[in-house]
Amino acid sequence: MAMDSAKLILGGKEFELPVTTGSEGEIGLGIKSLRAETGAITLDSGYANTGSCESAITFIDGEKGIMRYRGYSIEDLCEHAIFPEVCYLLVFGSLPSTEELETFVHDLTHHSLIHEDMKKFFEGYPPNAPPMSVLSTIAASLSAYYPVNDDPAISELNIIRLLAKLKTIAAFAYKKSIGQAYVYPRNDLSYAGDFLHMMFAVPSEDYELDPLIERTLDLLLILHADHEQNCSTATVRMVGSSDANLFSSISAGISALSGHLHGGANVAVIKMLNMIREDGGNIRKYMEMAKDKSSNFRLMGFGHRVYKNFDPRANVIKSANDRILSELGTEDPLLDIAKELERMALEDEYFVSRKLYPNVDFYSGLLYRAMGIPTNMFTVMFALGRLPGWIAQWIEMKNDPRKRIYRPRQIYTGSLSRPVVPLADR
Ligand code: ACO
Repeated sequence: MAMDSAKLILGGKEFELPVTTGSEGEIGLGIKSLRAETGAITLDSGYANTGSCESAITFIDGEKGIMRYRGYSIEDLCEHAIFPEVCYLLVFGSLPSTEELETFVHDLTHHSLIHEDMKKFFEGYPPNAPPMSVLSTIAASLSAYYPVNDDPAISELNIIRLLAKLKTIAAFAYKKSIGQAYVYPRNDLSYAGDFLHMMFAVPSEDYELDPLIERTLDLLLILHADHEQNCSTATVRMVGSSDANLFSSISAGISALSGHLHGGANVAVIKMLNMIREDGGNIRKYMEMAKDKSSNFRLMGFGHRVYKNFDPRANVIKSANDRILSELGTEDPLLDIAKELERMALEDEYFVSRKLYPNVDFYSGLLYRAMGIPTNMFTVMFALGRLPGWIAQWIEMKNDPRKRIYRPRQIYTGSLSRPVVPLADR
């Protein structure tokens, strides 16, 4: 049935709302002129059911467990593409040809150095500065080093610069946090390989890159590359809508991601597994606590706002997980707890009836641990993965002819008008 308009009845009067239908049949009710016509606004705390844009980048069907970048399923991309191809796909809209990929990878490697003066910034931070704080501030300061304007060539160069340099900044932030010498980027390594080398190489030893770890990192970056209008992506669009430059907009996205309700969930999974272990490994006790509403405890890594069937990213990681961990020879006591917890939860009526399945974060932390990535870098890894998605969404927002500065409304619930009583009389 064609749905090209909807009717709203307010105060006995009828108003027509235009309907926009997406390519996958999603329906949006247009309320742009609602306030002018009726004086009313829509109220939707957390924007849980509010579309802020039309987008051709990522499609998610949470009920069916579908996620696609530009029409390609996440499973297909994980099997057949490398992270730079996915970056190209998200940012430029199509998969690259061999020549296009060669040029893109060449550009990504040849722009990975940061301005030598920027090293002084790292020196100014306290020794144990959280790498996420360092990442967001130094990303913002890139706009002080590289010109930002509307020249398309400069804008494209800045996109390459950001994609190339953020991994250098991330690795330097880690080296700073452990007090080791910075390792410079190398142009002969892959995107993932170069990052691992900058993280783990030390001047006194040869660092041998493990191809399995390199491919695993590439996979994790692909899985996190975009997720439509989540908190950090909406932040990037919102900041960019004021005409703030790319670097500042992305820095704001990194800050939004840093919260434990967003990018920090895999850290919370590891903390939870550690807590269970230190408490004698009594998994049943924590399962019961998670079901008890008065305990305020939830099984971290279970459930998702959008995916109510399964998280397709979790399925990809889960199937890679066992193979990779056994090939890496990982012996992690947290892994056994995680497996048993998952088995028990998937058989438990409470979790089954509420459609609470393991999400991507249930597995990603365990993989990062097996790869030697420290817990304080997990959210930074998420930011590196999400970067091409943020950039693609920022470009789409900039190029939208209907774009307006993001400016939500509110329903005021404060005091009515009152006079200021002079200080002496209060
Ligand atoms: N453990 C125990 N109970 C849970 C859990 C959980 N992890 N998640 C949801 N529930 C319960 C709720 O208590 C509620 O129960 P009720 O119907 O009896 O009141 C029901 O399941 C529905 O929960 P909501 O909070 O309404 O689900 P929502 O979709 O709003 O929340 C969220 C999704 C935030 C992810 C939630 O499942 C959660 O807190 N999970 C743990 C944190 C986590 O893993 N976050 C990472 C998400 S993935 C990502 O961000 C990349």
